[in-house]
Amino acid sequence: MSSPNLLITGATGFIGFHVLLSALEQGYSVRAAVRSISQSETLASHPKIKSLALPDMLSFVEVPDICREHAYDEAVKGVSYIIHHASPLPSPFLDPQTGIYEPNIKGVTTMLHSALEEKSVKKLVITSSVFANIPFPPDPTEEITAESRLPDLPGPFDSMLPAYSAGKIGALNATEKFVKDNRPAFDIVNVLPGFVFGWDDRALTVQDITSGTNRVLLPIITGQSTHNPMPAGAAHVSDVAKVHMLALREGVTGSIGVTSVNAFDDAWEIVKKKFPEAVAEGVFTQGHQPTIPVNWNAHKTEVEFGFKFKTFEDMVTDVASQYLELSGKEKA
Ligand SMILES: NC(=O)c1ccc[n+]([C@@H]2O[C@H](COP(=O)([O-])OP(=O)(O)OC[C@H]3O[C@@H](n4cnc5c(N)ncnc54)[C@H](OP(=O)(O)O)[C@@H]3O)[C@@H](O)[C@H]2O)c1
Repeated sequence: MSSPNLLITGATGFIGFHVLLSALEQGYSVRAAVRSISQSETLASHPKIKSLALPDMLSFVEVPDICREHAYDEAVKGVSYIIHHASPLPSPFLDPQTGIYEPNIKGVTTMLHSALEEKSVKKLVITSSVFANIPFPPDPTEEITAESRLPDLPGPFDSMLPAYSAGKIGALNATEKFVKDNRPAFDIVNVLPGFVFGWDDRALTVQDITSGTNRVLLPIITGQSTHNPMPAGAAHVSDVAKVHMLALREGVTGSIGVTSVNAFDDAWEIVKKKFPEAVAEGVFTQGHQPTIPVNWNAHKTEVEFGFKFKTFEDMVTDVASQYLELSGKEKA
């Protein structure tokens, strides 16, 4: 086993698994932090991981509680790079205050303190979110960029979206305060993605697709409607993974946006255009997801890294294709 040079947290997740595959493909020796060691067997035996045939390049460390002080002390030992995804998304099954808000902040601050004590660390990349700097209600005439900031929101929180947003705002502000107070020797990058959609590399069944944020997109093309509006902003999972990997390069620091303005209901027009037979057969039916307009501009990322973000059409096409493939409804 070559000694790990990159720690990835949240590798069981939608974005983290994509990043894990990219990192292994790029030759990093990865230590993946998991909540329970049983998850390491699931990851190590996943067909996508096995197809890489790099068993010596992936090891695991158990971190049962990311909110505990010194939670990551063992996990960071000896690594040069850290990509920190682990944190809860909004979920009706979690307590907004203790299950969403607090772990979003404490998971980042415990990582910062563990990294500060470990001299080998050169770079920490944290997955933040556009939710860290979109004010509610957003003003669509005001441009938001990766550099926009909001003050911490007063809690406690009793609903999931405000708790998530406050957690991401708090984590970003706490990171910047930590840098001022501690002047760490390592560089820190915050990546701010919009809603992440695209081919889910983890998914082996059609139900698996809904375990990531594709669950926001699928209802719009499978006949389910909601009246709860969501802020605009979408990113392809492969662009989000690419930006995390590019952020490891020497000299890259600060905050990086990965998002493009979208209207969720455009998903239906895209599916009608790209999958007319499946629409005619009733496999795809029209749903509705209202969009709150947000003027978030991440073009600087495309310029600095020299590539164009995938479009909302690319995201919808991937999600619809994977749905057809896994539900056995794809035409030969
Ligand atoms: N998906 C999006 O649209 C989006 C957009 C912007 C930012 N982000 C951020 O990107 C990161 C990854 O998101 P994702 O879409 O990949 O989410 P995901 O599929 O739900 O994965 C979340 C990952 O974090 C871990 N995790 C969640 N709560 C945890 C806790 N309390 N303690 C320890 N580990 C925990 C999960 O581990 P288990 O497998 O053990 O649950 C999983 O590995 C998060 O920080 C999220 O806020 C996501």
